[in-house]
Amino acid sequence: MPDLFDPIRLGPATLANRIAMAPMTRGRRPDERADAMTARYYGQRATAGLIVTEGTTVSEQARGGVSVPGIWTPEQTAGWRLVTERVHAEGGHVFAQLWHVGRLSHAALQPGGGSPVSSSATPLADDPDNRVFATLEDGVPGFVRATPPRALELAEIADVVGDFAAAARNAIDAGFDGVEIHGANGYLVEQFLNPNINRREDRYGGSIENRSRLAIELVDAVAAAVGADRVGIRLSPFGRGFDNAAYAETVDTYLLLARELQERGVVYVHLNDQRPDGERIDEGFLRAFRSIYSGVLLLAGGLDKTEATDLIARDLIDVAAFGRHFIANPDLVRRLAADHPLAEPDVATFYGGGDAGYVDYPPAERDADAARP
Ligand SMILES: Cc1cc2nc3c(=O)[nH]c(=O)nc-3n(C[C@H](O)[C@H](O)[C@H](O)COP(=O)(O)O)c2cc1C
Repeated sequence: MPDLFDPIRLGPATLANRIAMAPMTRGRRPDERADAMTARYYGQRATAGLIVTEGTTVSEQARGGVSVPGIWTPEQTAGWRLVTERVHAEGGHVFAQLWHVGRLSHAALQPGGGSPVSSSATPLADDPDNRVFATLEDGVPGFVRATPPRALELAEIADVVGDFAAAARNAIDAGFDGVEIHGANGYLVEQFLNPNINRREDRYGGSIENRSRLAIELVDAVAAAVGADRVGIRLSPFGRGFDNAAYAETVDTYLLLARELQERGVVYVHLNDQRPDGERIDEGFLRAFRSIYSGVLLLAGGLDKTEATDLIARDLIDVAAFGRHFIANPDLVRRLAADHPLAEPDVATFYGGGDAGYVDYPPAERDADAARP
């Protein structure tokens, strides 16, 4: 029976264990380029079998917040090379999460100060949870209401697909082991999947097939660029964040995706359980998904060692991804193996700022020393 600490094949790679670091935006790069500090942060966490980087934006249009490192320019690509070299030197593997936020943006972040784009011109509710972090005319960054989006034109959808493919090529040039298409958490891909947001009447709207078309085109283009065995995708089937209201065809939508992803041989699917901001991804859904998709299955969202071990032992998932625990516990793998107590992350330093709450969480021995009277 496999457990968390057993190796697993992922396409051409063998991961040292079945513990992944989930993608986490940290908002620490005002120049939007990964740098030596980014490399240090990921290097500290490289005992994870797999690291998935923070969402890295594929174009200027894809941006939804300041200080997020992108992957569409040569300079940004060079910045990420520092990260991959460091992680590989530590024996780890790392995928870049490719991100387009869609309507979760502000005109100040968009090319020419235009409207953010989405499947349709469906605005977000004016809710504090829907705010984006932007720098307005006064030059001071802060949380602001998203600018109402406009619908992408057909030709522009092809451009978005091209941006993902180009970003994937950049990621491989930068030395990444692969890329994860961000299809989760209410961003652009989900804005096409969800009929409460997607009101299109062309081949990208209406039926489940049409609403899934963008996701599948992204997979096809990225796989053509870098090979399906280097492509994963993240999905959050029952997430409700950013106004993703429930819809009746949710399970059918994601099982259709499972079939298409199976056919294309993408190397992994990373399901994100957004509890409590959404319904639980239950055992029945995992079994149904797995009966169709036979690649590596990752699951994230509120996991602890006990639950992760149980899900892997029962063959419901292959790899357990941890988010917040990796922020405060750079040596999470060792701590889990030794049942060492886990440090709690400081929510105030999740996004933005410098070293504090980023690269200064100590490994277990020093943590224990610090706790000693
Ligand atoms: C600070 C922070 C930033 C995050 N940024 C991203 C992101 O860029 N992309 C993404 O897919 N999920 C992101 N997430 C969600 C995490 O990947 C993960 O799914 C979530 O934290 C639940 O896992 P956990 O309970 O182990 O933390 C973020 C979560 C946190 C706490």
